[in-house]
Amino acid sequence: MLTARIKDATAMAAEIEVRWADDAPPSRYSNVWLRDHCHSELSLHPETLQRQVDTFAIPADLGVDSVAVEEDGARLHIRWARGAGASEFPAGFLRHIAENSGRLPKPERRLWDRAALGNSLPSTPYADIMASDEGLFSWLQQILVYGFAIATDTPPTPEATQALCERIAYIRQTIFGGFWDFTADLAFKDTAYTPLAIGPHTDGTYSNDPPGLQMLHCLKFEGTGAQNTLVDGFKIGEVIRDTDPEAFEILTTVKIPAHYDGDGVSLRAAHPIIELDAEGAICQVAYNNYDRAPFQLKPERQMAFYRALALWNRMINDPTFEIQLDLRPGGALMFDNWRVLHGRHEYTGYRRLCGAYLNQEDFQSKLRILSANR
Ligand SMILES: [Fe+2]
Repeated sequence: MLTARIKDATAMAAEIEVRWADDAPPSRYSNVWLRDHCHSELSLHPETLQRQVDTFAIPADLGVDSVAVEEDGARLHIRWARGAGASEFPAGFLRHIAENSGRLPKPERRLWDRAALGNSLPSTPYADIMASDEGLFSWLQQILVYGFAIATDTPPTPEATQALCERIAYIRQTIFGGFWDFTADLAFKDTAYTPLAIGPHTDGTYSNDPPGLQMLHCLKFEGTGAQNTLVDGFKIGEVIRDTDPEAFEILTTVKIPAHYDGDGVSLRAAHPIIELDAEGAICQVAYNNYDRAPFQLKPERQMAFYRALALWNRMINDPTFEIQLDLRPGGALMFDNWRVLHGRHEYTGYRRLCGAYLNQEDFQSKLRILSANR
């Protein structure tokens, strides 16, 4: 993108056509759009990159006086008609818009089931993550690609685990506090605070912005059971898209209300189980049958909903899609709560767990910054 070069450019009626020095097809941009996205200092603040141009003062019939390609094709310069000033653009910016329309590239995820993952789970040594941006990048990249990754040889203390989380971003405050350090004492009205089995789910379906990443680090375990389970919700979503379009339609469009009532709060939000972005790609899953709030659909739709829900439930509990982890002191698990469902077998004995939530946008931001600095 940065090496894009403009061969020449021509003013058409209400557009400018740019032809590229390589074999790429010509690109067109409307005059109004170009004026709105001008890169001159008066239009785009050089430090904050915030728009300074008055979008609403641009005449709809804005015309062009002259167009010039400068700096060996690296810049486009436009003089607007009737004294409306001048604009300039880096060639790389125009090329990026032509190719992606400004959308961020899709992350290269590897969707998995049990067979695809095998026995090699994505992991990075704690010491590497803490010591260098390269180590942190490799861990975050694993979380992006697989939806989870383990920080190995993490000191089994709340302090070290919190420092690990804060390598990525500030810890999110929720009704459960910031950083947690807990046992099965029912400190909150949630099954997580009991030794009972918990089926696969995502956290925070009752939040408009469910937690993005979740850290779980077992600091002490003396007992039996408590295996943690992980399921790739995106994988299951894609299998349903391919095999059962009717269920896929229900799961991507019916917004399921969820609630958290207790501990002095009354939270409500609604999400489809599988959320699609504007291009139809799966961008988030949100599912917690324990926290589903009462709601009703029209009778036919209601039956179709229960059928789709049962299919989803069957698949997320299918052992071929699930991996089991014995979380033990030293293995700090970070997973993407917008993609991977987690569960836990029941247990006996004593278990001390610590962890935290991070926002999805802060995880994405850190990855973008680290990637740009490489
Ligand atoms: Fe949970």
